[in-house]
Amino acid sequence: MNTRTTRTLAAALSLAAVLAISGCSGDSKPEMTVSGAFMPQPVNDKMAGGFMVIKNDSAAADKLTGAASPLSDDLQIHETKDQKMQQVQSMDVPANGELKLERGGNHIMFMGLKSTPKVGDKVTVELRFEKAGTVKVELDVKERTYTGQDPASTAGNGH
Ligand code: CU
Repeated sequence: MNTRTTRTLAAALSLAAVLAISGCSGDSKPEMTVSGAFMPQPVNDKMAGGFMVIKNDSAAADKLTGAASPLSDDLQIHETKDQKMQQVQSMDVPANGELKLERGGNHIMFMGLKSTPKVGDKVTVELRFEKAGTVKVELDVKERTYTGQDPASTAGNGH
């Protein structure tokens, strides 16, 4: 048995293990997964709402700090309190948790639209997070009454 080769091999293996661990812990940037993004067809070109579920798959808490879109130069983050909506500077996306933007609650508000999207259109939005950076999503424009709980949209996805 050649002990010298064995030792060299052991040293190489432990070095590889150290590299794997440091590579993992260095990756602290949160990963956001957005699902069910939609915009109810706006009544006119004054304003529109954007809704979605933002999932944080990392162990680091983050914040949604803003958004941008070709549809409007003025995107705001709104929360709804006592049935009145108000602008906030940021919204928390908890570690291993999610931020729900849903009708009657938190939402993205598009002010002063450059056009009036119709059902079937898509609206591009760039979400900005404090740590995760920019995440691009496409909102499907839906009927005005759509709430995001369309059972047909989840049918046939393999479950
Ligand atoms: Cu609003």
